[in-house]
This record gives sequence, structure tokens and C-alpha cells, in this order.
Amino acid sequence: MRRILGISGVLLGLAMSGAAFGDPAGADLATVMKGMKAKFSDITRQMMDPTRNENSAILSLDLSVLILQAMQIVPPKLTKLPVAERDALYIDYRKLLSQLYVLSLDLEKAFRDGRNADVKAILMQMDALRKQGHALYVQEERQG
Ligand code: HEM
Repeated sequence: MRRILGISGVLLGLAMSGAAFGDPAGADLATVMKGMKAKFSDITRQMMDPTRNENSAILSLDLSVLILQAMQIVPPKLTKLPVAERDALYIDYRKLLSQLYVLSLDLEKAFRDGRNADVKAILMQMDALRKQGHALYVQEERQG
């Protein structure tokens, strides 16, 4: 229940943020991304263990909530651009993260269905999006 309330909180935040996007919780993007990485590592560690599937599904749900949070934050690389350019690129950024979001739901479903054999392919697609997103939106001095 707490989890469901947490998600509706994020969705409410999305709905209320309107044009003045910003993370309602005030977290910066790097912090949210670090959280995504931690969930990703936890999932990878136990992804082939069916006895951990319930927990892996919850970790996938956590990951999806962090992705929604990341979507609400304009990447620092874009903030100094002229407004029209920034807004256009911010739409592209959210579209890319939307793809990651759908994959996180596929991941949760695979764990809930006990389809551990499908998990690796989903994680590989997510990792490809990570590389794509970082090449486009991480400021050069921060890339690694
Ligand atoms: C599972 C996928 C992903 C993981 C695990 C991940 C993880 C990370 C990590 C660990 C950082 C470095 C944080 C730091 O210490 O400064 C980071 C930064 C960043 N990521 Fe991701 N990322 C993922 C996907 C994406 C995608 C799809 C995008 C864009 C659409 C993206 C955009 C960014 C940006 C812009 C930063 C720089 C944040 C800043 O400097 O403030 N990431 N990410």
C-alpha cells in the first residue's frame, strides 16, 4: 500500500509540475541515477534465482519509480541552452527515458511471471538505452 501511495505521489508530482518541471522531492539527477544504478546492480545479482523473483519484481518497480523521477528533471547539460532548444531536447530526453520505463515494466512482469530466461535480454536493452542516453545528455566532463 505504501508503495502504491509512493507511486501515486510521483504521478501527482508529474501532473502538478506542469511547465515548470522540477523534481518535487528536490533530488538532483545524479542522485536519482545513482539510485537507478543501485537497483540495476541488485537485480543483476539475483536475476537468475527464481526464489528471489518476488523481491526482484519489487526492485524493478522501485527502478520504474526512479525513472519517472528522472524524467521530471532537466539534465544539467540542457539548462544553459536557449529556451526553445532546451525544451525540444528535453522532450527527446523524456521520450528516451519513457522507453526505459516501459522496459522496467516488462522486467517486473517477467519476474512476476517467472520468466527468468527473458530477463537478460530486457536488461541488455536497458543497458543500450543507458549508453545512448549518456552519450547524448551527460556533460562531457562527467562521462565515464
Ligand atoms: C538503467 C539505465 C541507467 C543507469 C543505471 C544510469 C546510471 C547513471 C549513473 C550512475 C550516473 C552518474 C551519476 C553521478 O555519479 O554523477 C548517471 C548520470 C546521468 N544519466 Fe543515467 N543511467 C541510466 C540511463 C539513462 C538514460 C536513458 C538517460 C537519458 C535519457 C540518462 C541520463 C543521465 C544524465 C543526463 C546523467 C548526468 C546527471 C548529472 O550530471 O547531473 N541515464 N546515470
